[in-house]
Amino acid sequence: MDSTLVVFYSYTGVTRRAARLLASQHDFALGEVTDVEPRATWRCVFDSLLRRHPPIRYEGPDPGRFRNVVLMTPVWAYRLAGPMRTFATQYREKLPRAGVICTMNSGGAPNVFRELSHILGHGLIRAGAFTAGGIEDGTATADLVDFGSRLDERPVPQPTVHHFPSVLPMD
Ligand SMILES: Cc1cc2nc3c(=O)[nH]c(=O)nc-3n(C[C@H](O)[C@H](O)[C@H](O)COP(=O)(O)O)c2cc1C
Repeated sequence: MDSTLVVFYSYTGVTRRAARLLASQHDFALGEVTDVEPRATWRCVFDSLLRRHPPIRYEGPDPGRFRNVVLMTPVWAYRLAGPMRTFATQYREKLPRAGVICTMNSGGAPNVFRELSHILGHGLIRAGAFTAGGIEDGTATADLVDFGSRLDERPVPQPTVHHFPSVLPMD
């Protein structure tokens, strides 16, 4: 069984850059979730608020081949981005050891962690949140790489949060 697959969805490019960085630093495999239908910002918001499962395409290796899969997604409207909801739902049987990384501006990551745990039916091996600013200016790079180093540390650790304000808005 191979080590780790990073599966990402990205609308404006931040999560894609973070995923490529994580994968390249650790020599992890990479897979991408994309939209089948054209997307506008208002549809991101409605997909999140209504917890929709928009149709997706997945290009990458079979997640079932990997010991760990890291799901990387933006936060939309304080919730999980719809395309990653669809991926996690479709592939849940192949994700027994999943870690999650959110990219965001300021808040909503705990809701994303909770929803993905619920979809998968078990805890996450690791969870982290990174601001888009930290990804773009490089200040998040060390913690992002560290995240990848710790995937095999504990069987089911508590979610951890990086680059994140101490008071979080929750739904
Ligand atoms: C429709 C929409 C809703 C968003 N909602 C949130 C939010 O609730 N909380 C937050 O911190 N950032 C929010 N953001 C910011 C994105 O999560 C952030 O910029 C992320 O890094 C974008 O990732 P991407 O470039 O890979 O799509 C939102 C962005 C969009 C486009």
